[in-house]
Amino acid sequence: MFKVGILTASDKGYLGQREDKSGKVIEEVMTNNGYDVAYYKILPDEREMISKELIKMCDILKLDLILTTGGTGFSPRDWTPEATLDVIHRETPGISEAMRYYSLKITPKAMLSRGVSGIRNNSLIINLPGSPKAVRENLECIFPALKHGLEILKGISSECARK
Ligand code: MTE
Repeated sequence: MFKVGILTASDKGYLGQREDKSGKVIEEVMTNNGYDVAYYKILPDEREMISKELIKMCDILKLDLILTTGGTGFSPRDWTPEATLDVIHRETPGISEAMRYYSLKITPKAMLSRGVSGIRNNSLIINLPGSPKAVRENLECIFPALKHGLEILKGISSECARK
């Protein structure tokens, strides 16, 4: 079972002024799909706090998958993609491209998410947008390939089925 960490970036959520519905949606959806949600954290939209937390989640907690939510848009406080790029070793652009492609069929506003994804050591980090609806839709998009990617990353599988 892959260990998942959730990192919500939200000024209002951090201050307790807004319920973190998106973090709860991630927990629910991942658990229902057979992942072990082992860690959760909520932080304000501060680039350095987010990047430091991501390093901890990868290097100390050794989570297999880190799903962030929020802070991917155009607001002056949206820095989650930059915080992620600060810490990853290898980008996985296909994941973020697929999410935007899939989401554009649902809403043209999907093009406004600047989310990135990538690998740090043995952990995969994926930025999801902030709304509970967007979280559900983006997770739905990545499920068909996610486990296979994690298996290759963890050395559990090295082969892609031809069919
Ligand atoms: N993607 C999907 N699938 N569904 C959505 O409703 N909302 C968009 C976009 N991606 C959306 C989506 C909107 S309105 C914005 S502004 C951006 O994600 C960035 O969101 P964030 O700043 O909360 O991360």
